[in-house]
Amino acid sequence: MNDDQKRRAGEAAAERVEAGMIVGLGTGSTAAWFVKALAARNLPDLRCVPTSEKTADLARELGLTLSTLEDTPRIDLTVDGADEIGPGLALIKGGGAALLREKLVWEASARCICIADAAKVVKVLGAFPLPIEVVAFGHKTTANRIADVLTDHDIAMPARLRQADRGVVRTDGGNVIYDAKCQAIHDPARLADDLKLITGVVEHGLFLDLTDEAIIGGDNGVDVLLP
Ligand code: A5P
Repeated sequence: MNDDQKRRAGEAAAERVEAGMIVGLGTGSTAAWFVKALAARNLPDLRCVPTSEKTADLARELGLTLSTLEDTPRIDLTVDGADEIGPGLALIKGGGAALLREKLVWEASARCICIADAAKVVKVLGAFPLPIEVVAFGHKTTANRIADVLTDHDIAMPARLRQADRGVVRTDGGNVIYDAKCQAIHDPARLADDLKLITGVVEHGLFLDLTDEAIIGGDNGVDVLLP
């Protein structure tokens, strides 16, 4: 059922795209629905900037014209998923380990639309573990400093190094990810600032004041949320 909701959100967002636009393509299962719906529209003169190698592969396979942030530093519209959508359309992202490229593309975009299934909307951010991207060199030292910041925010659990079947997860940029089980993030802006001050932290998954609109897939249609 969630997959149908994700598809509806992705298809509705694809309708927002106009011919000739430079479009940021998000990462994840919901963003994949958007990419498929966008390709199906066959709009002329689109250029698309993917936020991960995985999305790039899908977009290429579907015949979309790809560009890079270097070649097209200004993006008209980015459409991407989220792991949690909180009040004011503050987001947690990075469940798919693409948070750094995602944030670079979002911040280069004139407009950002978040697409998600209804279960992603929460009253307080933090039930979904917050991804924190860390330089691999000395990452355990950086993790200790992250733990100190989390303690200062009344978050007792230390962040955990993300592992997959094949070992430690590496991002497209070669970094590692720590996931912080926050439970409840009471001051997302202060936590975002404090994490960014740690040497070795490349980025975190708090996307604040970046979302212009959220399209939430439901069982019969979509809801639009504004900040
Ligand atoms: C990728 O790094 C994430 O930010 C995704 O946007 C997020 O994990 C949402 O993924 P789904 O659309 O697969 O739920």
